[in-house]
Amino acid sequence: MRILVVGGGGREHALAWRLAQCPSVEMVFTSPGNPGAAKIATCVPGWKPSDWLALADEHEIDLTVVGPEAPLVAGIVDLFESRGRWIFGPSAAAARLEGSKAFSKDFMNRNGIPTARSQTVTLVEAAIDAVRDFGFPVVLKADGLHAGKGVVVAQDQQQADDAIPALLADGRLVVEEFLKGEEVSFIVLSDGTNVLPLPPTQDHKPVYDDDLGPNTGGMGAYTDPCILSERQAEGIMDTIIRPTVDRMKAEGYPFSGFLYAGLMMTADGPKVLEYNARLGDPEAQPLMHRFDGDLAQVLLAAVRADLKNARTSWKPEPSVCVVLASHGYPGTPRTGEVIHGIAAAEACGATVFHAATRLSQYNTLETAGGRVLGVTASGGDLAAAIENTYNAVRQIHFDGMHYRTDIGEKGLKRYNRENMGT
Ligand code: AMP
Ligand code: GLY
Repeated sequence: MRILVVGGGGREHALAWRLAQCPSVEMVFTSPGNPGAAKIATCVPGWKPSDWLALADEHEIDLTVVGPEAPLVAGIVDLFESRGRWIFGPSAAAARLEGSKAFSKDFMNRNGIPTARSQTVTLVEAAIDAVRDFGFPVVLKADGLHAGKGVVVAQDQQQADDAIPALLADGRLVVEEFLKGEEVSFIVLSDGTNVLPLPPTQDHKPVYDDDLGPNTGGMGAYTDPCILSERQAEGIMDTIIRPTVDRMKAEGYPFSGFLYAGLMMTADGPKVLEYNARLGDPEAQPLMHRFDGDLAQVLLAAVRADLKNARTSWKPEPSVCVVLASHGYPGTPRTGEVIHGIAAAEACGATVFHAATRLSQYNTLETAGGRVLGVTASGGDLAAAIENTYNAVRQIHFDGMHYRTDIGEKGLKRYNRENMGT
């Protein structure tokens, strides 16, 4: 099989890396890709759905896999399907689950899928009234796509007043009840009817340790069996995932692709914070690290609406990914800093996925955006995986580099609570 992976971040590097190792895959192209992906795949320029369709024709691609949300929301899947080309991802109508917070809240409310109480408003005055009704803290969500940064948790009136005008820029704003609990990223493969769950992962959205500071696209993630019990995972499949897939189909826009439910595990059970119409990033990095088997065959089964006959298997060892970010991120990142130490990190046993890197005119590797690298490693247990990952992280340096030092610690605490009563 000849595969095209659309996108140029850490998730796409991780997907291309895993797909390149599949027995059924002859060649992997990625577009636009990045210098890390270029080591295991052929990177070709491309920025919009019509570019990728032309690439698929030119390189006789058998299956295209889409990483980021923007091309999905723009209708890349509809375009490929109209030309009879196989592509893994949701149609534009189904990708509204991510593309519009207002659509996804309405969808959950009319279908009884557990989520936070909310109100969608179009005017500043209505937003202020809604904030008053909910009390503080309150969650304010811009409609549309914002790379994980369109959400503000306002602690007081001043913070709400400051945030509302910018968040209303797309015309609609969701004001939402603040939910307490632990967050879990629950991602499944869907063929529109059948689903196959991936192991649960946990992301770390705020920029600083202990979940302090503004939200980012994700500063690190891990996958470990202790994130959810089997009973909890089954409950999520029954109350959230299956109803979502069933109702999307019944409403006329079946969801095929990676369906990501961002959940809050509240005292009243799991509730959906958001849907994404794709694999999470950085979650994809530890997940692809742990995936065992021929991913291309599984994705092909989903595209053929035959997921009920497919199986996934996973290495038992937990995997951890720590994101190395640029000075200024999640605000305006400083770019053009030379990156040192990737080979040394890999010599420690880690896989270093590139998220925003480029080659300078002198052929040195430099930073090109906010989230620069995802250092990913596994270990015999979660503590060992964390230690192996941070040993590798410490080999890498660029000016202004920052990262969280507590990725996976919630997992260790949970493990200790459950196994040692501490
Ligand atoms: P979203 O893009 O909707 O997932 O929101 C980004 C992040 O904001 C989430 O991962 C949570 O950390 C936080 N968040 C979103 N909605 C809520 C909520 N209702 N209660 C508490 N935190 C939330
Ligand atoms: N890591 C969160 C996301 O991919 O949206």
